[in-house]
Amino acid sequence: MDQPLAYVHVNKDRFLAELAELIAIPSVSTDPDRRDDMRRCAEWLVAHLRSLGMDGSRVISTGGHPIVYSEWCRAQDAPTLLLYGHYDVQPPDPLEQWTSPPFQASVRDGNLYGRGAMDDKGQLFTHFKAIEAYLRTAGRLPVNLKIVLEGEEESGGDSVSVFLADHKHLLEADLAVISDSAFFAEDVPSLCYGLRGNVYFQVDVQGPGRDLHSGLFGGSLHNPIQALSEILAQLHDREGRVAMDGFYDDVLPLASEEREAFSRLPWKDDDYRRGLGLAELYGEAGFSTLERLWARPTLECCGIIGGYTGEGVKSVIPSHASAKVSMRLVPNQSPAKIASLFEHHMHSIAPRTVRVTLRCLTRAEPSIVPLDSPGVRAAVAALREGFHKEPLFQRDGGSIPMVASLKHTLGVDTVLLGFGLPEGNEHAPDEFLSLSNFFGGIGTVLHFYQELHSSFLEYRHRWVRSISGMSAQKG
Ligand code: BES
Ligand code: MN
Ligand code: MN
Repeated sequence: MDQPLAYVHVNKDRFLAELAELIAIPSVSTDPDRRDDMRRCAEWLVAHLRSLGMDGSRVISTGGHPIVYSEWCRAQDAPTLLLYGHYDVQPPDPLEQWTSPPFQASVRDGNLYGRGAMDDKGQLFTHFKAIEAYLRTAGRLPVNLKIVLEGEEESGGDSVSVFLADHKHLLEADLAVISDSAFFAEDVPSLCYGLRGNVYFQVDVQGPGRDLHSGLFGGSLHNPIQALSEILAQLHDREGRVAMDGFYDDVLPLASEEREAFSRLPWKDDDYRRGLGLAELYGEAGFSTLERLWARPTLECCGIIGGYTGEGVKSVIPSHASAKVSMRLVPNQSPAKIASLFEHHMHSIAPRTVRVTLRCLTRAEPSIVPLDSPGVRAAVAALREGFHKEPLFQRDGGSIPMVASLKHTLGVDTVLLGFGLPEGNEHAPDEFLSLSNFFGGIGTVLHFYQELHSSFLEYRHRWVRSISGMSAQKG
């Protein structure tokens, strides 16, 4: 372990320069104009993995953006770990709010800024550099490793789930790891064991067949922006609950032990509120902030489009208006069921003065990962070594659709070993990864692989059971 760690230490600057190259590729999956950049990014990753000494590295074309596959399966008496990550990023806008350009990585105040620095290029890179450190010093990895990187995570594509279903044998593994989540707070390492799911709709409201002069026509018809606002305003009640029949029916209530565990975490509503620049927090009555964030479903409007938004005055009634609506789901809610509930509900409250159409853009299952596994024990030990602190257990509010796919398609449990910070501006301007978490992350991954190896030798019976359990599931 000393040699790989020393290797990391002397190569720090080069690691950052390489990560900057990766960040410079604007791999925005949702933007059709970035198709070529997406492929270029996949090719960069394959070339990089080859240069590290990984085997079988290749770009795999799909109906959407390419998938990157790579492996190193030469370890005997070692478990097989599947590393998943995504190389696509969120759109960088609003551009003017970035302190430095989004695709030009920039180090300030001990942080690396850039789109993808945290989500997920920077976190992925902790594994790449741990792999490099092992292969350059020891010439081998402590585990067998299979790497799957996709380019549609941020845009809700399904290429990777198709890839999983088509390549069950290739992807057979004992455990999966994903580094795409965050610490509980700065200097408070944590292991994430639960994520929310997601159902995301575009709501289109069509009014008159063309834009109309608001003076000549105003008063004679229902403005689509007004109709849309009225619809959206009805989706919550005064208690902050989602006002849709059946929405909460399948929600698994928090066990009292878990509720108590949440309440013991070092959390202050007031600090959180101040950090967000708010006068008051808002949310579903009867639940603490952490419960609302991690264990309760929500409905949020993520965007609203309509009418004149340029400088100055233009008096017009627009012919249409749209909104993006995202529902975060918790165990045991089903995305398909909630999607049809939503469609039904929206049609039932839509006024007859406009035409409302709905399109479900993406769905993701919620997930909870078991805590009593050799993988989680290895991750806890690795975080302790990597950050010199005892990690906390937490859930999180975001979604990683792959966690449920890995379980359902391959029978593999995931360890969520995230190194971001909650204030890391994920999906927002000035996204960053702190350098101490980046380098601490590399150290943690080095330990994680080693711990998996040792635990495999020590508790082979448990690992073997997990393998046979997996094949039993696969039938
Ligand atoms: N990395 C995030 C999810 C995340 C962030 C989980 C922080 C835990 C802590 C991921 O890239 C993401 O943004 N997912 C999308 C998925 C959606 C498009 C289906 C999300 O949560 O909105
Ligand atoms: Mn991510
Ligand atoms: Mn993301």
